[in-house]
Amino acid sequence: MSLFDQPFDHKRDAAIVTGAGNGIGRAIALALVGEGVRTLFADISADKVRAATDAAADPALAFAWSGDLAERTECERLLADARERLGLVTLFVHSASPPRREQDHLLAVSDETWARMRAVNLDAGFHLGRELAKSLIAAKSPGSMLYLTSLHAQTPRNLPHYSTAKAAMAILVKEMARMLGQHAIRVNALVPGAIAAGGFVADPALARHIPLGRLGQAADLAPMALAVLSDRIGGYVSGASIVVDGGLALTNWFDPPELE
Ligand SMILES: NC(=O)c1ccc[n+]([C@@H]2O[C@H](COP(=O)([O-])OP(=O)(O)OC[C@H]3O[C@@H](n4cnc5c(N)ncnc54)[C@H](O)[C@@H]3O)[C@@H](O)[C@H]2O)c1
Repeated sequence: MSLFDQPFDHKRDAAIVTGAGNGIGRAIALALVGEGVRTLFADISADKVRAATDAAADPALAFAWSGDLAERTECERLLADARERLGLVTLFVHSASPPRREQDHLLAVSDETWARMRAVNLDAGFHLGRELAKSLIAAKSPGSMLYLTSLHAQTPRNLPHYSTAKAAMAILVKEMARMLGQHAIRVNALVPGAIAAGGFVADPALARHIPLGRLGQAADLAPMALAVLSDRIGGYVSGASIVVDGGLALTNWFDPPELE
């Protein structure tokens, strides 16, 4: 069998993907279904999540769920619904995030926008990941989790609510990976570059900062996400931040030399 055949265990594996109504979360959720994994698509937008499950290669494997993950009670409802529909959840992808709006800079961002960014990215990510881990430990099952962080976990974005939420998620991933490794639960971060997916207004001019010469698409993230989630391919990867950015992180104030 090829190394890349059947990256998942169809009997055992089942996934929750948050933010699966759009962008990167949607692309990862659809790719998981494409690999035969029962997947619950969770998003605040019922319309988007329904459109996403309708687009799945095998709609019988794609479950739609809508709710506001900024609310702890909704996180609880998601966990209960997932348990009922999927049984044990072995794969978790946390991609939900409020949109990034350039006007929400340091001097302008409201308390509500600050709190909501943190609640969806960090608080929901912590609560859902921890509860899913408890179930995996109780069932003595391996598991794999992937958190969508950002290059702006380490460099400013002019959006302090966003960069601080992502920085906190980045260390949460390491805390979880350190603690949960003994239970065969792997936890990693996926770090996108500038991906024209929907979460921010992607200016095409950004492409000149990207060594590979183009903005990314949501679909550029899905293959690496699946590789890291898969025990078969990424089974010895935990606590890592995997950057998928076309080389954007290599950009600094030195331009590459011009050759004739
Ligand atoms: N696109 C990029 O360039 C980029 C770069 C770095 C990191 N990321 C991260 O990747 C993830 C996905 O980004 P994207 O560009 O695909 O975003 P997106 O805005 O296209 O998708 C995010 C999804 O999350 C959902 N969502 C928002 N608030 C929610 C809530 N309270 N409860 C449930 N769902 C909610 C939205 O409805 C949306 O469908 C985000 O965490 C983002 O921060 C993206």
